Amino acid sequence: MIRKIVKMGDPRLRRAARSVDPADPAVPGIVADMLETMQAASGVGLAAPQVGIDLRIMVFGFDESPRYPGEPPVPVTTLLNPTFTRLSDDVEDGWEGCLSIPGMRGLVPRATHIRYTGDLPGGGRLEREAYGFHARVFQHEHDHLDGILYLDRMTDLTQFGFIDALFPDSPVAALERSGSGAR
Ligand code: NI
Repeated sequence: MIRKIVKMGDPRLRRAARSVDPADPAVPGIVADMLETMQAASGVGLAAPQVGIDLRIMVFGFDESPRYPGEPPVPVTTLLNPTFTRLSDDVEDGWEGCLSIPGMRGLVPRATHIRYTGDLPGGGRLEREAYGFHARVFQHEHDHLDGILYLDRMTDLTQFGFIDALFPDSPVAALERSGSGAR
């Protein structure tokens, strides 16, 4: 079931989410809905608070994203209670959007090389190293679980704006204007 995505301004995006029990029988249904909702919106990631659920669950990943054309694929992944560590001090600016802040992009500094871990639905744990955009997507979703939005991470708010104003000739702007998957 596609769930309604909560938009910036809703206090549910601004609270730290609760730990989730991987054995909770509600988890598989929530995860299935989150994946369906993310994919219906052509998103590259979604955190449970974005659908109003106060649990530490995130989904992310794509083969090819119309919102981020040219970015290398990221394996479709579900993580419960995720954590990460930086494996380098390197930080890189990159453009981010958010399904909860439709039509906008901002330039956000993120760690370029991390190791993340989390529980898997149904048991077990995943541990993985990630670089670049993959690491960026993870950190963006992880922030959602702590009530943090990408704007909070920006250091230069002149680099925040509407996609069709920032990148008028980009196919991403056309996608937003057409309204197809425009969140
Ligand atoms: Ni987001």
